[in-house]
Amino acid sequence: MATATGETSLIRFPLFLTLMTLFLQPCLSSVSQSKTSHEFSIKEATVQDLQLAFERNQLTSRQLVEFYLGEIRRLNPLLKGVIEVNPDALFLADEADKERKAKAPGSLGGLHGIPILIKDNIATKDKMNNTAGSLALLGSVVPRDAGVVAKLRKAGAIILGKASLSEWAHFRDSGAPSGWCARSGQGKNPYNLSADPCGSSSGSAISVAANMAAVSLGTETDGSILCPSNSNAVVGIRPTLGLTSRAGVIPITPRQDTVGPMCRTVADAVYVLDAIAGLDYDDKETIIASKYIPRGGYKQFLKPNGLKGKRLGLLKNFYFSFDNGDFDHLFSALRQGGAVLVEISDASKFFSVYSSKENYEGIAMTAEFKLALNSYLKDLVVSPVRSLKDVIAFNNKFSKLEKIKEYGQQLLLDAEATNGIGKKEKEALINLAKMSRDGFEKLMKDNKLDALLLLKSDSFILARGGYPGIIVPAGYDSEGVPFGLCFGGLKGSEPTLIEIAYAFEQATKIRKPPSFKH
Ligand SMILES: *[C@@H]1O[C@H](CO)[C@@H](O)[C@H](O)[C@H]1NC(C)=O
Ligand SMILES: *[C@@H]1O[C@H](CO)[C@@H](O)[C@H](O)[C@H]1NC(C)=O
Repeated sequence: MATATGETSLIRFPLFLTLMTLFLQPCLSSVSQSKTSHEFSIKEATVQDLQLAFERNQLTSRQLVEFYLGEIRRLNPLLKGVIEVNPDALFLADEADKERKAKAPGSLGGLHGIPILIKDNIATKDKMNNTAGSLALLGSVVPRDAGVVAKLRKAGAIILGKASLSEWAHFRDSGAPSGWCARSGQGKNPYNLSADPCGSSSGSAISVAANMAAVSLGTETDGSILCPSNSNAVVGIRPTLGLTSRAGVIPITPRQDTVGPMCRTVADAVYVLDAIAGLDYDDKETIIASKYIPRGGYKQFLKPNGLKGKRLGLLKNFYFSFDNGDFDHLFSALRQGGAVLVEISDASKFFSVYSSKENYEGIAMTAEFKLALNSYLKDLVVSPVRSLKDVIAFNNKFSKLEKIKEYGQQLLLDAEATNGIGKKEKEALINLAKMSRDGFEKLMKDNKLDALLLLKSDSFILARGGYPGIIVPAGYDSEGVPFGLCFGGLKGSEPTLIEIAYAFEQATKIRKPPSFKH
């Protein structure tokens, strides 16, 4: 979810970390057991590579899960991208292997035998906890799998474990650093261990970047898929609101929450999207949005020539300057692929639509969070906390009892102080809708754009209107920290965005595995 505050970078326990790194260095440099029979390499393998290896009997799901569990044991003490592993992962792998032997290849689901890591705010009805990183929810029992998890299981995926996150999807306290939660501590950016991993889906990004899982799921309310994908050289898709079910996800606000894939390649992310998109009667928004899903799904849009004829909006002289070498070669690649870059000369006029004295998004979200969270907590079968009020009381008690560092909970307190959707909130909602209409929607239509080029900090443009976006690795800064280029479009434009993102990725191939440097 929620807010991706990318700016705070905080190194806790620096001495401890240094010792830890010294201790880990020899292990990190030693070659891990990633080759199976016939020298198939699991590291960096795509979903398609893995499925081909299954088919050719070069790999089993058990070997694959054993590899990832080994990498989690080796890397996670440093990176803290994983909060829990599924105690049943090897059992599920054996089941997948048996099923593959027994069934015809064409009859298996699209992610059959593929291990996936799920952000720890998405419920799984198994031995794992669903806590949003908070100690307050440990031991709670969910009524059922989240809608997207039910679809993943149907597609044959193996739920490998839960990914860490900024606690409460960064809705605990704006002073809490990105990637931190009380349950697993501070997640680390594998490209520069001193850098911000960004959040709130930090663990999902960290873990796929470092090959601790094949693919992963994150959630976004405003920037929480796009920003960590940006900072960890991962492809992230934030789907149109309601294209993927939010049922069983610890919410911020149903008006903005969306669940999406975070993977090493566009194709992997699209395979995951195909598995999770669609109708779920436990989330009414999916009834509206599922009409956007094309017959035959999204795979058909993975076209190498997908940039041809696409009109891409470029907000000139705002974030991107034509003099900026970092972006120049990216723009060339887009043009060489056949895209038309449409310069928006009045970028500041566009952004001024979104500026206001009041923080309308904050006002709406704060009230909506209380309603949505209380309803989630009430639905649990067993839970130590049943309301936002209980969560706040737990945090107060816990920080007194324990000696570990805890951050404040101002956002939770602000939310508790709200009282439903009143006059102030209604006014905020009207203004948010107007911003999207007069801003993004108008810009796209007036300029006949297929997509607008965006950076991670522009996530609010997509978030407030429930629009989709795909971010693709686009480069590394002078400190080795990755950045991405995001393509944003109108509702239901995933087919077009996938064509653009895939062709851009194939033309540039910028992602490389992380180096674990400081
Ligand atoms: C879930 O949390 C409980 C503590 O309440 C812990 O004992 C258990 O190991 C956790 N489950 C997993 C799969 O880690
Ligand atoms: C990592 O980032 C820090 C600042 O956060 C910087 O001082 C350091 O040089 C960077 N490391 C590399 C390898 O670029």
